[in-house]
Amino acid sequence: MEQHLLRLTVNDQDYELYINPKALLVEVIRDHLGLTGTKRGCESVSCGACTVMIEGMAVKSCSVLAMQADGMRVTTVEGLEKDGRLDPIQKAFLDQGAYQCGFCTSGMLMSSRAFLDETSNPTMHEIREGIEGNLCRCTGYNSIVRALDSVAKGKYREEGQ
Ligand code: FES
Ligand code: FES
Repeated sequence: MEQHLLRLTVNDQDYELYINPKALLVEVIRDHLGLTGTKRGCESVSCGACTVMIEGMAVKSCSVLAMQADGMRVTTVEGLEKDGRLDPIQKAFLDQGAYQCGFCTSGMLMSSRAFLDETSNPTMHEIREGIEGNLCRCTGYNSIVRALDSVAKGKYREEGQ
């Protein structure tokens, strides 16, 4: 199969690679770039484990061809931490114990970050709606919702995060 040139900026690093034009973004992220924090779950756009951000918007990376992201800026869970400092949402997940097996966590973090970037002062109901595309079999969601709420209320801003 003819390979196509893909240019991507992932976690502030530029990449140029030749790929099968039918490759999904999740495949390129994991198999070509080795960024395995992004999980492959259902592969049918249901679970959210593969969520990344494209140009700041949460996208299920099993739902798009990698070529659809050509020339764009992609952020994976590996890109949340900056200069050795966790993103506030990562800190909040740790503080609230918002994970158990962890399989959903990277996708949940990316959806949460995108949601909080777009929504100021969300209600608990809005938070639940904001992450409804991400499934978690373990936590019952309450600790995850508390984590988002604590970030939305500025807890980590006060700590200089
Ligand atoms: S692996 Fe993409 S939504 Fe489940
Ligand atoms: S922590 Fe196990 S699926 Fe969410």
